[in-house]
Amino acid sequence: MNREDLIVTIDGPAGSGKSTIARGLAERLGGRRLDTGAMYRAFAHEAVTRGVAEDHRALLHLADGFPLTVDAEGRVLVGDRDVTDHIRTPEISSWASRLSVIPEVRAALVPIQRALALPGPTVAEGRDMGTVVFPDAPVKIFLTASPEARARRRQEELAAAGTVIAFELVLADQIERDARDENRAVAPLKPAADAALLDTTEMTIPEVLDFILAIVAAV
Ligand code: DC
Repeated sequence: MNREDLIVTIDGPAGSGKSTIARGLAERLGGRRLDTGAMYRAFAHEAVTRGVAEDHRALLHLADGFPLTVDAEGRVLVGDRDVTDHIRTPEISSWASRLSVIPEVRAALVPIQRALALPGPTVAEGRDMGTVVFPDAPVKIFLTASPEARARRRQEELAAAGTVIAFELVLADQIERDARDENRAVAPLKPAADAALLDTTEMTIPEVLDFILAIVAAV
């Protein structure tokens, strides 16, 4: 297939390895990684900064024409402010999950995601890439891993960024977030009917990459 038309969607819950795999895959394909979770995080960060995260009307107003851009290096900007380094905290994780249930917020971000995806190759990671945003993508992957493995990875990721949190707290927070992401009315986390399901609990990163690259090579 034409490289310019290639979109690989990677969906799955927190800690399933999406970001690591999407990054590695984009590198191997010589394309870009589209981190859509970062966009919901940027919206949540802006809402919290403005003190409107619990004000539904103000949230709708904020979503309308939300000035989000992602540059070629993957830096996330709201207006002309680079928020990339401020959106990975547990507080913003929780707010991103809570605010992403609002249909108007999703409606504001989806066109931005689609506009950034082509020309490919693009590796788009999120919760609804294969089901809603890129239903015609030629390669769709749904990653899972055991809850414990995912919480352990998340804990290590946070520790690497300087935030030390007890395993039980990371796990509890993850269970709450998974339930919300899976049960929301609009674009819930679920595999597309034509997605390849991959449990990464016992797999190494190169094994996962090779598995997906074999699928890409076949399209
Ligand atoms: O992938 P992440 O942990 O950075 O995503 C943060 C939150 O954003 C996640 O809990 C749900 C939401 N999200 C979403 O609803 N749809 C996406 N495509 C990506 C993320």
